[in-house]
Amino acid sequence: MAMFEAAIKPPADPVAAVTHADPWPYYRQLRETQPLYFDVRLQLWVASSQAVISEALHHPSLNVRPPDEPVPAALQGTAAGEVFARLVRMTDGAFHAAHKPAVVRAAGRWSLADVARASEMAAADLQPPMGTNALISNLPVQVMARLLLVSESVLAVTCDLVQQFVQGIAPGASEAAVALASQAAEALMAQGSAEGLNAVQAVNRIALMQQSLDATAGLLGHTVLMLAQHPQLAATARCSPQAMREFVAEVERHQAPIQNSRRFAVRALRLAGQPVEQGQGMLLVLASGNRDEALNPQPDHFDPQRANRRSLGFGAGSHACPGAAIAIETVAACARSTWAGGRFYSCIGRQTGFRPLGNARIPVFEK
Ligand code: HEM
Repeated sequence: MAMFEAAIKPPADPVAAVTHADPWPYYRQLRETQPLYFDVRLQLWVASSQAVISEALHHPSLNVRPPDEPVPAALQGTAAGEVFARLVRMTDGAFHAAHKPAVVRAAGRWSLADVARASEMAAADLQPPMGTNALISNLPVQVMARLLLVSESVLAVTCDLVQQFVQGIAPGASEAAVALASQAAEALMAQGSAEGLNAVQAVNRIALMQQSLDATAGLLGHTVLMLAQHPQLAATARCSPQAMREFVAEVERHQAPIQNSRRFAVRALRLAGQPVEQGQGMLLVLASGNRDEALNPQPDHFDPQRANRRSLGFGAGSHACPGAAIAIETVAACARSTWAGGRFYSCIGRQTGFRPLGNARIPVFEK
């Protein structure tokens, strides 16, 4: 009922849109009327067309962190802050340029068969005791931990540590959550060091698990929903591993589990002809870019067999996601194996809404 009422009233702003039942008409209106505007209420620029988003993602003066706060104030001086400061996701310039290639190589060392095997094993271990919410939260990080050869005996605890770290570095986290994130950061760094990794390598081992968490939970949740809502397309998807990958890739484009990302002006610049002041923040509505006709023809149509699919949902430019293929294979293999085991309908519940997040759109199920 709450979701139905929300569908009638457009979202209040592009952050509220992330958890709105139907944000797509609102995104279209933004894109068509004001593809780049300053939102006074959010105190952020908002970019919603594929052209402006792409320009922003490639702009040398737009960084991932505010220039005066490279590490959030609440994390400064903590072990969680030390890890945060060395994540490729959170850095730009020379540090990012020096370390991103190693992260890309690290993520590229697994074949699709490796990922599928890890995903099938994780899906078999986690079902049926877990409900859908717990499954979508745990499966992606379990898969990444298995790929990283985390030993069976510490698999569950490692996944809990990654969850603690992510919760504690989120904006607005409580002091208790930051303290837990710091303990988790220390424990995860100690694991990396025991494997012979240096500090930056150990941080980026954490990054691979941490980045897989929410985004892939969203991708898995939306894939489950779309498979259930489109039985004929689901039947085609089940015919081959490649057909299921195409289905998941279309879910990513169409539903955009990561609806937006942020950038900050390190110096004054002009974007799409408009002046942006140093220090100002910008919301890049990737989900809207994916529904722009300039990116894909008939963008609102869900078509797993779409030719030349283009998506901004994994980012672009220097911060482009190195885990896209892993994420798609994780979800596709989980969906295939769950279906093959006859567990698909028994392990999904009714959707009741979305997690209350400002950038990831992750379905919540009744169980
Ligand atoms: C196994 C799963 C995944 C891994 C290991 C992974 C890893 C990463 C890493 C390390 C980065 C930081 C790159 C950098 O800043 O240079 C990143 C960025 C990003 N990832 Fe992923 N990711 C995964 C899944 C996903 C999924 C499922 C989505 C979306 C559906 C996604 C969307 C993004 C986006 C949008 C960025 C760029 C953010 C920005 O530029 O502001 N990722 N990912």
